[in-house]
Amino acid sequence: MDHINNLFNPNSIAVVGASRTPGKIGHTIVKNIIDCGYKGNVFPVNPAGGDICGLHGYKNIFEIEDPVDIALTVVPASKVYDAVVECAEKGVKYNLIITSGFSEVGNIEEEKKLVHAARDHGMRIIGPNIFGLFSADANMNATFGPANITPGSVAIITQSGALGLAMIGKTAVENIGLSAIVSVGNKCDIDESDLLEYFIQQDRTKVILMYIEGIKNGERFIRSLKKATRVKPVIVIKSGRSARGAAAAASHTGSLAGADEIVDAILRQCGAIRADSIAEAFSWCAYLANAPEPVTEQTVIITNGGGVGVMATDACERYDIPLYNDTETLHEIFSPVTPSFGSTKNPIDISGGATAPEYSQALDAALNHDKIGAAMALYCETAVFPALDLEQMLEDTNRRFKEHGRPVLFAAVGGLDLEHAIGRLRYKNVPVFSDVDQAVACMGKLFEHYRQRRTRCDTFEDCSIDTQAIDAVTAEARASERSFLSANESREIMKIIGVGMPASCVVRSLDEALERCGDIGYPLVMKVVSPDIIHKSDAGGVVLDLNNKDEIIDAWQAINQRCQAYLPGARIDGIELNAMIEPGIETIIGARRDPVFGPIAMFGQGGIYVEVMKDVSFRALPLNRLEILSMMKQTRSYPLLLGVRGEAKKDIEGVLDTIIRVGALVRACDYISDIEVNPLVVFEENAGVKALDVRILLATQRKE
Ligand code: ACO
Repeated sequence: MDHINNLFNPNSIAVVGASRTPGKIGHTIVKNIIDCGYKGNVFPVNPAGGDICGLHGYKNIFEIEDPVDIALTVVPASKVYDAVVECAEKGVKYNLIITSGFSEVGNIEEEKKLVHAARDHGMRIIGPNIFGLFSADANMNATFGPANITPGSVAIITQSGALGLAMIGKTAVENIGLSAIVSVGNKCDIDESDLLEYFIQQDRTKVILMYIEGIKNGERFIRSLKKATRVKPVIVIKSGRSARGAAAAASHTGSLAGADEIVDAILRQCGAIRADSIAEAFSWCAYLANAPEPVTEQTVIITNGGGVGVMATDACERYDIPLYNDTETLHEIFSPVTPSFGSTKNPIDISGGATAPEYSQALDAALNHDKIGAAMALYCETAVFPALDLEQMLEDTNRRFKEHGRPVLFAAVGGLDLEHAIGRLRYKNVPVFSDVDQAVACMGKLFEHYRQRRTRCDTFEDCSIDTQAIDAVTAEARASERSFLSANESREIMKIIGVGMPASCVVRSLDEALERCGDIGYPLVMKVVSPDIIHKSDAGGVVLDLNNKDEIIDAWQAINQRCQAYLPGARIDGIELNAMIEPGIETIIGARRDPVFGPIAMFGQGGIYVEVMKDVSFRALPLNRLEILSMMKQTRSYPLLLGVRGEAKKDIEGVLDTIIRVGALVRACDYISDIEVNPLVVFEENAGVKALDVRILLATQRKE
C-alpha cells in the first residue's frame, strides 16, 4: 500500500491542461491546489508556457526537471492519449484523468489504450471522468469543486463526479470534516477496492463513505470491504435499487449494476452499513466518526414527553437497540430524579415540567451506572424549559458522556428557536436531531457496526468435490453445448456431492412404469421428464401419492395429456417414478455464479410458490455455518424449521450441510452456472433432508 500512499501524499503535482483562463477546469484545479495550502511542488503544464496562477507554466511535462508524483490530465479527450503517454514516459506515478468522453459514452477501446500505455511504465490511473482528489493529510485540494473543504475524519469514495462535488458542499453545511474525497469515475484502473485498502490503514480516516453505482470486480470488492469493516465503519450508498435506477446507473458509468437483493445481502455480509439517502449517510457518518465504541448496548431513553418516548421505543425495535429493562434497577437509578407522576420504566419519563438541571441529573444517573451503555435524551420544547437553556445543557452532557466513553444522542422537537439551537450545536459536533427516528437510527448504526466486528467470522467451510466424476457426468451436455443437465444427470451429480434424493427411475413407457413401480415401492410420485418443460408442476406434469397400478395408469395418461395441452409439441422423454417421502418443511436452496460477485448461495421457502412468496436470502460464497444460519434466519419462514405450534424442531444441520455441498460444487466447477434444489424437504432433527427436485444449468456461453 506504500505506493498508493503517494497518491494522497504526493511530493509534486503536475496539471496537464492548466489554463490561464479563470473559470476553466484546468485553471480552477491549479487555483484550488494553491489555495488549500499544498506544500509540495506544483507544475502547471500548458503549450503556451508563461505564468499560470502565479506559477511558472511548463510547455510540456518533459520540461519539468523534478520528479512528478501525480499528474492531473485536463485536456480534451482527443489529446488525452498523447498526454498520458508523455506522463508515463516522464515517470509520473499516478495520473488522474479528469476528462470525460471515454467508456461512459461507449468509447471503451480508447480507455483501454490509456491503461495499456500507463501500465507499460508502471503508472496508475484514476478515472477518466472524475473531479479529482482531496487529501487532508497533504492539504491538497486537487479538484474543480469548492475551494474550502473542512479537514476531518470521513473519507468519501464516489463513483459519481457531480454528486461527489455536491457532497463536498453538503459536508460543509453539515460540518462534516473530510480526511479525503476521491472520485473514481470509470475505474479503468484504480477502483474502490484499491482505495478501501488505503483508507483501512490511514489513521486520520475514522469512517468511510462510498457512493457506488456499479461494481466491476465483485469478489475483490467483497474481500476489501470485509477487511475495512473490521477496523472502521463503511457506509455505502448503492444506487440502482429500482430496475429503472439500475438502467440509469449502467448507462451512466459504463458498468453493470448487480441485482439489488444480492448487493444488499453482500453489503450486510461484509459488515457495511447501507444508506438509502445522502441525508441518512451523512448523519450516520457524522455520528460514527465521533461516537465511542459501546461497552454494552443496554440503552435508556430519557424524555419529557410520552409520545416521543413511544416513537423512540418503536424505532429502537426497528434498529435493533436493546432497551435496558430491569425495572428494579431502573427505579433505583431514576426515582431520585423522576417526579412521582413520571415513570422510571424505560423510556424514563421525567415529565413535561422537567427543566435543564433535571434532565442533566437524569442523564448523569444513566452515565454513572455501569449496566447502562448508552443514553438517548428526547426533548419536546416547553415554556418551563426553553430552547436556550437546552443548548448549554446538551453541550455539557455530551462532553461528560464523551469523557466517559459512552455513546449519547439527543432529539429535540419544537419551534424555530430550537432549530437554530440545533444548528449551533451540530456545528459543535453535538449529536442532536430534530427528528426522533434520525437520532435512533444513528445509535442503531453505531451498534450494528461494532456488533458485526464482535460477532462476524470470515472463515469458511468447504467440502471436497470429486471434479473428475462431475466432469464425466457433464461431458456430453458440455460437448453438445446444452445449457442444462437432464434429471438423471442432475441426480448423478447429487449422488457425487452427497445430497440424498428419494429412490427413483425414469421409464419410457407405461408398461415399463408398471414393471418398475415395485422397485420404488408405494406410495410413489410420477413426474414428467421433458427438455421443454422446466416447471413441471405448472404443466400438470407431477402426480403425487399413487398407491397401486390403476392409479399409475391414470396418472400416466393425465400427465401426457396435460403436458401436451400446456406446451403443444413438447418433447416428452419419459416419466420419473419417485418414492413419495414423509412430509416435512419444504425449503429451496441454491447456488449460482453471479456475473459481478461470483458464486452466491441462496436459501428460502421452497415448493411451488417460491416466486410468489419471494422469501429467499442470499450470501456470497464461500460461507461458514454461522453465516449460513444468519442467511436462513433472514427469511420469514425460518421459524418453521424451529417447529411451530407444538411441532418438533427440524434438521437445520442437514440444510446447512446441503448448502455447503451445493456451494462447493459451484465453486469447484466453473461451467455450472446455477443449481437449484426445490424442494429440499427438511425432516425432524437428526432425520435429515431430501432433495426432491434439482435443476442444474450450465454456463455454455462462458466457453467463448
Ligand atoms: N498539454 C497541456 N495543455 C494542453 C494541451 C496539452 N497537450 N493541449 C491543450 N492544452 C491546454 C489548452 O491550451 C487549454 O489551456 P488555455 O485555456 O490556457 O488555452 C487547456 O489545456 C484546456 O484545453 P481546452 O481545449 O480549453 O479544453 P477545456 O478546458 O474546454 O476542456 C476538459 C477540457 C475540461 C478536460 C473537457 O474536455 C472535459 O472533459 N470536461 C468534462 C470534465 C468532467 O466533467 N469530468 C467529470 C468530472 S465529474 C462530474 O461529472 C462533475
